[in-house]
Amino acid sequence: MSDDQPVAVVTGGNRGIGREVASQLADHGFTVLLGSRDRVKGEQVARQLDASGAAVHACRIDVTDQSSVEEAASWVRQRFGQGVVRRTGERLTYRAADV
Ligand SMILES: NC(=O)c1ccc[n+]([C@@H]2O[C@H](COP(=O)([O-])OP(=O)(O)OC[C@H]3O[C@@H](n4cnc5c(N)ncnc54)[C@H](OP(=O)(O)O)[C@@H]3O)[C@@H](O)[C@H]2O)c1
Repeated sequence: MSDDQPVAVVTGGNRGIGREVASQLADHGFTVLLGSRDRVKGEQVARQLDASGAAVHACRIDVTDQSSVEEAASWVRQRFGQGVVRRTGERLTYRAADV
């Protein structure tokens, strides 16, 4: 991944609108961190969207569980630094360090 490649975190990325958002972001050159409450489901969908595993990475996150959010934010910060969060129905930009 190049330093200027945009990174998107998509919660609920394993199905429905989130999955489609994740797919389109990957098609547009984003590195996608595909959030799912179930890691196995997330990894399956990440592989479906990106067989090479280069651009779509599964990330376990439950937005109603603060410890899960903090754990995911820590992982994002360590691996990718700054990111953009997209959730179905809303969009917000953030620095991973702020989460
Ligand atoms: N589809 C439409 O046409 C439409 C139109 C207008 C508005 N909306 C709204 O847009 C939202 C998404 O719609 P959808 O059709 O994509 O729904 P969906 O197919 O039911 O998908 C919902 C996604 O949210 C995830 N999710 C649920 N609770 C979560 C939590 N606590 N933490 C993290 N992820 C969580 C689910 O993950 P799990 O697999 O782990 O449950 C799933 O990936 C809904 O609020 C819906 O009401 C949908």
